[in-house]
Amino acid sequence: MNVSSSTEVFYITTPIYYVNDVPHIGHAYTTVAADVVARYQRLLGRQVFFLTGTDEHGMKIEKTAEQRGMSSQELVDEVVERFQHLWQVLNISHDDFIRTTEERHARSVTAFFEKVRENGDIYLGTYEDWYCIPCETFWTVNQLEDGNCPECGRPAERVKEESYFFRMSRYRERLLAYIEEHPDFIQPPAKRNEILSFIREELRDLSISRTSFSWGIPVPGDDKHVIYVWFDALINYLTAAGYPDGDRFSQVWPADIHLIGKDILRFHAVYWPTFLFAAGLPLPRKVFAHGWWTVEGEKMSKSRGNVVDPVAVADEYGVDSFRYFLLREVPFGLDGDFSRAAMKGRLNSDLANDLGNLFSRSIAMIGKYRQGKVPVPDPADQRYEEFSRLAAEIFAEVSTGMEDLAFSKVLQAIWRLVVKGNKFIDQQAPWQLAKDEAKAGELDQVLYCIAEALRLITAYLLPFMPERAGEMMRQLGLTMEHFSRGAEIFSWGQMPPGTVVEKGKSLFPRLD
Ligand code: MSP
Repeated sequence: MNVSSSTEVFYITTPIYYVNDVPHIGHAYTTVAADVVARYQRLLGRQVFFLTGTDEHGMKIEKTAEQRGMSSQELVDEVVERFQHLWQVLNISHDDFIRTTEERHARSVTAFFEKVRENGDIYLGTYEDWYCIPCETFWTVNQLEDGNCPECGRPAERVKEESYFFRMSRYRERLLAYIEEHPDFIQPPAKRNEILSFIREELRDLSISRTSFSWGIPVPGDDKHVIYVWFDALINYLTAAGYPDGDRFSQVWPADIHLIGKDILRFHAVYWPTFLFAAGLPLPRKVFAHGWWTVEGEKMSKSRGNVVDPVAVADEYGVDSFRYFLLREVPFGLDGDFSRAAMKGRLNSDLANDLGNLFSRSIAMIGKYRQGKVPVPDPADQRYEEFSRLAAEIFAEVSTGMEDLAFSKVLQAIWRLVVKGNKFIDQQAPWQLAKDEAKAGELDQVLYCIAEALRLITAYLLPFMPERAGEMMRQLGLTMEHFSRGAEIFSWGQMPPGTVVEKGKSLFPRLD
């Protein structure tokens, strides 16, 4: 177990998504990745708290609602359902779904604000700067590019108003020291370096309230002001853990991982830690920023009309093929491209040809030669030993890979077993052994190894492809009980002899 974890609960979060727009592949990406980690940790036997939700306040929501002729509340209530529906479709196993418009969150933000103010880290001043509404981000004049937001390229607006400020500058040295002493805190390393140079340059106090709109949580004791949407949003991670006075809070917080996209790293790796310092709370153990998807080689945008709807992709290719694609195609942390050709290629080669084929031919052979019954293994058999060694190697690769969130590497490690299984069948040629009565014992060993390889592959795929792995489990005559023994399920030789396997429908039909 991870030595740095002192809480009992493994706590993982996704960003909370803005509800001014419908969900797309980028939202699906982070959430599927977090789901895989959560399911993997549960398989290892850990108690998991997996949080996702929606970010429902701010000027952007207020403006979108106005444009659509509805109230902000009506807008958020409508769009939140699209997210909740998507998570159902994608088989996301979150334990909680937080909406920042909930009462529990207003309580938590208010308590947090008061705590930081008591500490002397909030003061009233005047704010004058540039603001990008779509990104809900402030910029200095030097950061603007021809008057436009450097992040999204849209025009920034000049804002001048009375505002509460958070004394972020006070925490510059402490944050630098923290990041330097905790090399794993910000991942991947290239992103960590970006953050370090950002902080080294300057850390200004942060305006954390607005008077120019009202859709938000009021500043306690001064309700002309609403709290800045990022201050409000980040605290969601505490609210769901029970802040300020929930029973479970000290078991759940700090979070083990905040999974986010690279565009919102500064908020999570600079603002958030300083807020937590000011409130006297421990920092999350890891903030991991993943890359962005382009679509067929182009930036995804509404104006280009190329926004990928994850529900449509899941309908067309299957939920689990989509989940597999997202995590296999691109090393986590780098940018990647979504294309129909790539999606179809992965489905046809890795899933239909390699994995699907291995399953169907193996189960057919156990059916044909042993009436569907898994034979008794001989641990001294050389084939058994060879597989056992390979399984140990793969376990090491998967464990490290999961720890590093290197999903693509993990899947490649699992595929070593798939490829080995197919090769093994070709080399051992069970159809030849079956012709010779004297080779019955050998055939037993070959079939056992194949069945056990399928079981192991199923165990490893449960987090990635929960629905298809469930079907594999059924075809293997196993139940979830066989996969509820912690890390032991990943060691070689757990397939109970005598288990009756049964052929089912093709796991991954080819697409032409
Ligand atoms: N509400 C804030 C997050 C607050 S967390 C306390 C927000 N919401 S968002 O809906 O705009 O974006 C959420 C996530 O989607 C971000 O992590 C972002 O990186 C991700 N993506 C948006 N477009 C993306 C791609 N094209 N590709 C991959 N991820 C993308 O920011």
